[in-house]
Amino acid sequence: MLVLGIESSCDDMSAAVVENGRKFLSCVVSSQDNIHSKYGGIVPELASRRHIETVIPVVEEALREASLSIDEIDGIGVTYGPGLVGSVLVGLSFAKAVSLVKGIPFVGINHLEGHISTAFFMGGITLPFVGLIVSGGHTLLCKVDSFGSYTLLGQTRDDAAGEAFDKVAKLLNLGYPGGAVIDRLGKRGNGKAIAFPRPFISKDSLDFSFSGLKTAVNRYVKEYGVPEKQDLNDLSASFQEAVVDVLVEKTVTACRKNGVKNIFISGGVAANSRLRTKMAERARKEGLSLTVPPPKLCTDNGVMIASAAYYRLKTGESSALDLNAIANLSL
Ligand code: KG4
Ligand code: ZN
Repeated sequence: MLVLGIESSCDDMSAAVVENGRKFLSCVVSSQDNIHSKYGGIVPELASRRHIETVIPVVEEALREASLSIDEIDGIGVTYGPGLVGSVLVGLSFAKAVSLVKGIPFVGINHLEGHISTAFFMGGITLPFVGLIVSGGHTLLCKVDSFGSYTLLGQTRDDAAGEAFDKVAKLLNLGYPGGAVIDRLGKRGNGKAIAFPRPFISKDSLDFSFSGLKTAVNRYVKEYGVPEKQDLNDLSASFQEAVVDVLVEKTVTACRKNGVKNIFISGGVAANSRLRTKMAERARKEGLSLTVPPPKLCTDNGVMIASAAYYRLKTGESSALDLNAIANLSL
């Protein structure tokens, strides 16, 4: 089964073709970082307007890369939430139009299930697993018993981890999105230089909170100014270390509490090199398996949506044309 996946829930427009949920045929991502960077964050109206311009060329390129025509596609998967409603609507409306005109079934995919589906796309993971989905819009832990069977274990009560990275980067004049920049600077810094708080780390709950950490960095900058050179590296590393400590600790606790031996991490922040290293070290120590996608499959992409759609379409599921975008769709 050849499935076209379309993802437009935030500021990336992506389309991909995946065969039988596992075989990568193509993936095209059109990023809008250049549009939003000057605002230090995503401007929803600009994001959806740009999506309208890119959706057709991105899908066409994904089909070209896979050497397929739209008539050879067996099904379409498209994100219908959670996300910025204007952004989601562009991909969703396009998928519905193609489905109607070409008679191809389509299925709406929960973006969070998309991230989880990357584990099924990659294969080799043992069920059940604890999934840590950590991005600019989400930070959550869930237990995955099988495809489609998820239990939410905890989520952020305020900022997502990626949002905290981006806000701190803005404070430090590092541009947007800042996660990857902090990652790069942090590699040259000392993570123990500044003792930032580890919010909620010892709490019994598996929920997260990152806004206090962002405020702590803000207070530091107000007191000492924006540091330069090695001090900037040290600040980046110290902030990053605090976020990573919380993410690792909570994930291991989630495994322990639920008797689960396998971890999967995804979302843009899962591309963070320190998180990947520290989670791997800790998993080894605790006797847990860890599956981490390559960075390109951690950030938003059409492959995860195409893969999730395959598993739904093959059971005969499809969506009706009145499917609407749901901004706050939960897992
Ligand atoms: O999954 P994603 O592409 O989009 C959302 O659904 O949000 O994640 C984007 C987020 C941004 O906040 C970005 O700063 C963060 O992921 N990010 C990183 C890294 N690469 C991207 N954060 C920390 N370290 C990185 N290497
Ligand atoms: Zn995402």
